[in-house]
Formats: sequence, structure tokens, C-alpha cells
Amino acid sequence: MIRTIEWTDQGVVMIDQRLLPTEEVYNTYKTVEEVAEAIRSMVIRGAPAIGVAAAMGIALGVKNLASEDGLKEKFDRICQIIRETRPTARNLFWAIERMREIFERHREASLQEIQTALEQEAVRIHREDIEINRKIGEHGQQLLAQRVNVLTHCNAGALATAGYGTALGVIRAAVENGKEIQVFADETRPFLQGSRLTAWEMMKERIPCTLITDNMAGYFMRLGQIETVVVGADRIAANGDVANKIGTYTVAVLAKEHDVPFYVAAPLSTIDLNTPTGDQIPIEQRDIKEVTEMNGRILVPQGVSVANPAFDVTPNHLISAIITEQGVVKEPYQETIASLFRK
Ligand code: MRU
Repeated sequence: MIRTIEWTDQGVVMIDQRLLPTEEVYNTYKTVEEVAEAIRSMVIRGAPAIGVAAAMGIALGVKNLASEDGLKEKFDRICQIIRETRPTARNLFWAIERMREIFERHREASLQEIQTALEQEAVRIHREDIEINRKIGEHGQQLLAQRVNVLTHCNAGALATAGYGTALGVIRAAVENGKEIQVFADETRPFLQGSRLTAWEMMKERIPCTLITDNMAGYFMRLGQIETVVVGADRIAANGDVANKIGTYTVAVLAKEHDVPFYVAAPLSTIDLNTPTGDQIPIEQRDIKEVTEMNGRILVPQGVSVANPAFDVTPNHLISAIITEQGVVKEPYQETIASLFRK
């Protein structure tokens, strides 16, 4: 399996996803500041992987503390460093909350005990994520026909998680169950997670995959060659609106027009019951250089106005089903999503 992120005695080891697919470089990050910068600069990305990195970054920050003096303030500061990295993925904030709970539970313990408990929790979050993705895969693959062409957008694969993936986990599970899946991977401008990462993952596993640019999806849907869409999510509001990589909404509208099922695969840790609708989900605006430059080469006239929102929101009525580790839910999402947390 592709190793996205690992906890080691030397620090947090991550594959630098900015260099894929041409270079497979693993770096060791030794401080919470370094982990935060890795999240911000997209060394690691994808909501569940960001959650794992956040937890490990916090564990690392506390591990590096020399004394118990002002421990609560120091812990808050460490969490703040992680919190300020990326605003949209719910998993980042979910992981901070999980680590904070462990910290609070061990308030009377020694620094060494707290360090051990936080390290164990971070490693547990990593392990659980892989198990969760396998469950998402098993539930989701049942929605796919025996022989089907599936479009995915961005990368919701092993690289976007601790392993296996969410949307790509559904595809992996379908293949493991003997289904014949032909993947269409959207290139995913501007950061190219589809062409650089999804295509790379699919090729590594010999799952048939055709790379298309984002503006080709309608063409292939009209020809009947894209029969299902499966994507991941960065944050799912309580009413089932889904924030995911910019361009996902466009795909959902196209899918509706062509009567193509549009599925979202995500763990419960991506669902934010405190965000009522997609309108309240904060959308990250990234550096315009991601749009204006490629490999240092300037692609646009100097001074042109540029926008670079990293995510968009797909309204719940365009979503055929949401696939989680607790099962598959459909409309009315307000009720069905709430029921997932009562299981
Ligand atoms: O900006 P990114 O690469 O972090 O965005 C990733 C996505 O939008 C993914 O689709 C989402 O996080 C789900 S990953 C399982």
C-alpha cells in the first residue's frame, strides 16, 4: 500500500505529494511548525490525511516540550499552529478536538504520560482511518454495477487518507470484488491532483484509468461513457451539502443533466453537524500563482485579475447518496445524516 504518512521515532514521515508523479520523496518533519507548513504547502493534502497530519503534528509539538511549565498554554499554542493551516477540511478540526480530549483527560498526569497518550492517539487515528476507508469501500462498491465507467474528481485516494482512500477506496473495493471498473480521472486544475495523484495511484494498482481535462466531463457524459461519479469531501454540512475540490459542483450539475448517479464517499469525521448548510462552510482561497504559473513558467498576461477558490459546495439535491463507514445515506439528508451518529 502507498505510504502517505507515518509516525516514527525520528518524526512524522510524509511523501511529498507536490513532487508526484515524477519523484517519490519521503521527508521527516520534526516539529509542529514543520508539520503545519507541510499541510499548508500541500506536501500532504486530502481531508482525512490532513486530519492524521494534524494529530501527529500536535503529538510531535507536545513531545518536543522540555518542561511542564505553562503546559495548557503551550498545548493551546500548538493546536493554534495546526488550526491556522487550512480552513475547509473538517477533519483538521475534528483531529484537534480528539487530541484536546486526550490532553484534558490526562491533566493530572506527568508530561511523559501525556506525551505517550497523545502519540498513541495520533497513531490510533491513523490506523482507524484505514479501517474506516475499507468499510466505506465495502458499502460503496455495492452501488457500482458489475461493469461501469466511473468519473472521479481530484484525489480521494490512498494519498488523501492514511491509506486505501474514500472515493478511490470505493473503486478499489469494487475491483477487489471482481467488478470491471474503468476510471475517468479529471485533471483537477489548478493543482492537478487528478492527473498527478489519482492517475498515479490507479496506474500503480493497474486499475484502467483515462485522464481527461476538467472541461471534457460533459463530452463523455453526453456520449454515455461516464456512467457514475464518485468523489470525496472536505466538509459535509448537517443538511448534506458537500464542500469538495473546486470543480466538483460543475461535475454534479453535469451528472444531474445526464442522469448519472453522483456519489460522495467520506468518513463521519468529515461531517460537521455544527455547520447547518454549505453556505457556512469556509472556502479556502489559495495563492493565485497556482493558476498563473506552471513549473515557474508564467501562463497569463501580467496584472490580470485572478481568483483561486480551492473548494466549491455541491448542494444536497444533486447528491444521489453519501457513503460512510456506517453505511449509505440518501435524502432527506438532514435526518439520515443525524441518524448516522446515533448508530
Ligand atoms: O486541496 P486538497 O488536495 O486537500 O483537496 C482534496 C479534496 O478536495 C478531496 O476530494 C477531499 O479532501 C477528500 S480526500 C479523501
